[in-house]
Amino acid sequence: MCVAADWRRLYWWVVLQWVVGVATSGPCAQRCDCSPKLPLVDCSSQQLSAVPEGVPDATQVLNLTYNHLKTLSSRQFFSLRQLRELDLSANMLTVIEVEAFVGLQNLITLRLSRNRLKIIPVGAFSGLPNVQFLDISENEILVLLDDMFGEMPSLQKLEASENDLVFISNRAFSGLPNLLELRLERCNLTTVPSEAFSRLTGLQHLRFCRLGLTALPNNSFRQLQRLQDLHVSRCPWLHTLAVNSLIGLNLTSLTLSHCNLSAVPYAPLHHLVYLRYLDLSYNPITTVLSGLLGDLLRLQELHLVSTGLLHVESGAFRNLAFFRLLNVSDNRLVTLEESAFHAVGSLEVLRLDGNPLACDCRLLWVMRRRLRLRFAGHAPSCVSPVQVQGRMFQDFAESEVARTFTCRQARILTRKPQDVRSDEGHTVLFFCAADGDPAPSIIWLNPKRSVLTASGRIRVLPNGTLEVRYAQVQDSGYYLCIASNAAGNDSISVSLRVRGFPASSRNRSGSFFLDGWSFASGQTAVNGSQPFPFDVKTLVIAVTMGFLSFLSSVALCFIFMFFWSQSKGQIKHTATIQFVPRSSASTTAGRSTVETGRFTMKLI
Ligand SMILES: *[C@@H]1O[C@H](CO)[C@@H](O)[C@H](O)[C@H]1NC(C)=O
Ligand SMILES: *[C@@H]1O[C@H](CO)[C@@H](O)[C@H](O)[C@H]1NC(C)=O
Ligand SMILES: *[C@@H]1O[C@H](CO)[C@@H](O)[C@H](O)[C@H]1NC(C)=O
Ligand SMILES: *[C@@H]1O[C@H](CO)[C@@H](O)[C@H](O)[C@H]1NC(C)=O
Ligand SMILES: *[C@@H]1O[C@H](CO)[C@@H](O)[C@H](O)[C@H]1NC(C)=O
Ligand SMILES: *[C@@H]1O[C@H](CO)[C@@H](O)[C@H](O)[C@H]1NC(C)=O
Ligand SMILES: *[C@@H]1O[C@H](CO)[C@@H](O)[C@H](O)[C@H]1NC(C)=O
Ligand SMILES: *[C@@H]1O[C@H](CO)[C@@H](O)[C@H](O)[C@H]1NC(C)=O
Ligand SMILES: *[C@@H]1O[C@H](CO)[C@@H](O)[C@H](O)[C@H]1NC(C)=O
Repeated sequence: MCVAADWRRLYWWVVLQWVVGVATSGPCAQRCDCSPKLPLVDCSSQQLSAVPEGVPDATQVLNLTYNHLKTLSSRQFFSLRQLRELDLSANMLTVIEVEAFVGLQNLITLRLSRNRLKIIPVGAFSGLPNVQFLDISENEILVLLDDMFGEMPSLQKLEASENDLVFISNRAFSGLPNLLELRLERCNLTTVPSEAFSRLTGLQHLRFCRLGLTALPNNSFRQLQRLQDLHVSRCPWLHTLAVNSLIGLNLTSLTLSHCNLSAVPYAPLHHLVYLRYLDLSYNPITTVLSGLLGDLLRLQELHLVSTGLLHVESGAFRNLAFFRLLNVSDNRLVTLEESAFHAVGSLEVLRLDGNPLACDCRLLWVMRRRLRLRFAGHAPSCVSPVQVQGRMFQDFAESEVARTFTCRQARILTRKPQDVRSDEGHTVLFFCAADGDPAPSIIWLNPKRSVLTASGRIRVLPNGTLEVRYAQVQDSGYYLCIASNAAGNDSISVSLRVRGFPASSRNRSGSFFLDGWSFASGQTAVNGSQPFPFDVKTLVIAVTMGFLSFLSSVALCFIFMFFWSQSKGQIKHTATIQFVPRSSASTTAGRSTVETGRFTMKLI
């Protein structure tokens, strides 16, 4: 930031000099503009192919941008002991020799961006004890070598974005105890260089963008205890955060945007109790679940822009007493209920625009607070109901609000009693159609009062109808349909009585069919009271029978053989069977096979 300010000052000074017309010119390097008053030498855009001779020793700022420099040789700047800022951006540098910058003891800022460096040798940055900012962005650097920055103990900010980095050596960042900020954007890294990062114990800000990461493994950033601000974005393949991926961190600000996370990473975040800012925008996150962000006690801002968000559950921001900004613009939210928040009193800024909002009683709380809440210049508008379509929230008159932002309680339309008696094995339907505004959701409870789902033998169809397939005696009882919406709920009770087959007929009808079971259904998901079509007794009998008959035939066979052998006293009581492999009986290997392939059978 200071650097930027310095540059701005410098820029104005240059402009001023140009306006006044620099007539004063002492001894100065060829083709450069020198100012005696301010120790600045400007050699930019002079088509220089080498560092010019004769730069005054007292120069503090040397600008060599937009030239054709290709090489920096050893001790190139040796005499410029006063130099504080050296800008070599936008040249064609491919080689920086070892000790190129030796002598620049007072240098604070070194810029080498937009060159063609592929490799920077170890030792290139030696003799730079005071450099605080180094910019090597927009080069073609492939690897960061061990100890590359080893002799820059004062370095605070390193900008290494937009390189072809594929590898960062484990000790690349050693000797940088004071580094506060590191930027690695648009690189070709596919893993987090955790080992290299572990040297940066003082790091506070890390930007890690446009990378080929697919996952953040456990302990990715484990030694970065001082890190406050982690920014990971535009990693389109990043879909997983391991449970302990952020362990060891104590962040106040976390951005994980433009990645491929399909859910809020609740578990990896939960220890970040000092987190104040969380941005998960542009990830395919459709739901914020209830109560799972509750550990982030100090969270103030959450951004979930353009994630395809459909639903923020009631209690999603429970415990977040300091929550003051929610940015959920450009999503698919139909509503945002007050019950999602710990207390809407603390909420100051709400970006809810770009959502297909239904302006009913669920958004009345936003309307009521519309003068206090800030929409940051983007007030939300209604998409339904049709009579207020397209109207902005702040355009409603007070008198209109109470009339428009209403709901109609859920009401079940099928009120006719449904008491069904059925025989075992039949399919029974119970109807439960409801209306209301917003459209009610329908749930069915079974006689034991647990919620029935859309799958299984007894299931709820998409239109709210309850279907009982292959009815069984134990399905009998009272079923309850509850239709509910934001304005209230309604319920009906229906009854089912299933009659079993007469006992005698059941006992006779072969034991392989369970009551009401039909093999023709081909339904594997059918769960009856008995999970298996055969009853156990039958199975045991069948198996026992089979086994007995097998044993008896074996016994018979042996008896027969015994008598046969007794009657013919002359026959040999042993028989040798040799197994000879067909292909290579003559080779040694073949013979060994013959040995192992011999069986001896002895008759009684
Ligand atoms: C780095 O990625 C860019 C864009 O994906 C690609 O063009 C470039 O060839 C890659 N570089 C290396 C060294 O893999
Ligand atoms: C991360 O650590 C957790 C807890 O120690 C463990 O359950 C999980 O399997 C680890 N994940 C990976 C990818 O190693
Ligand atoms: C993002 O994840 C989804 C599944 O979660 C996958 O189908 C898709 O290919 C992923 N996109 C990218 C760019 O990896
Ligand atoms: C975590 O960070 C907060 C605020 O930056 C600080 O007050 C707190 O002491 C830190 N906790 C630990 C364990 O470092
Ligand atoms: C909401 O997020 C968008 C996109 O990230 C951003 O441009 C905007 O400034 C944010 N609004 C507020 C009030 O922070
Ligand atoms: C059916 O059985 C499966 C597994 O045995 C179980 O997950 C499912 O909840 C059961 N469904 C019903 C309606 O009981
Ligand atoms: C609901 O759907 C089922 C099958 O899809 C159909 O048999 C039933 O008649 C429908 N019920 C109503 C009330 O429309
Ligand atoms: C139905 O409404 C009553 C009070 O009006 C409430 O206690 C109950 O929890 C609601 N039930 C459902 C399923 O919403
Ligand atoms: C078969 O009949 C006997 C006696 O008649 C009875 O005790 C038994 O419960 C019946 N079995 C079944 C499965 O109905």
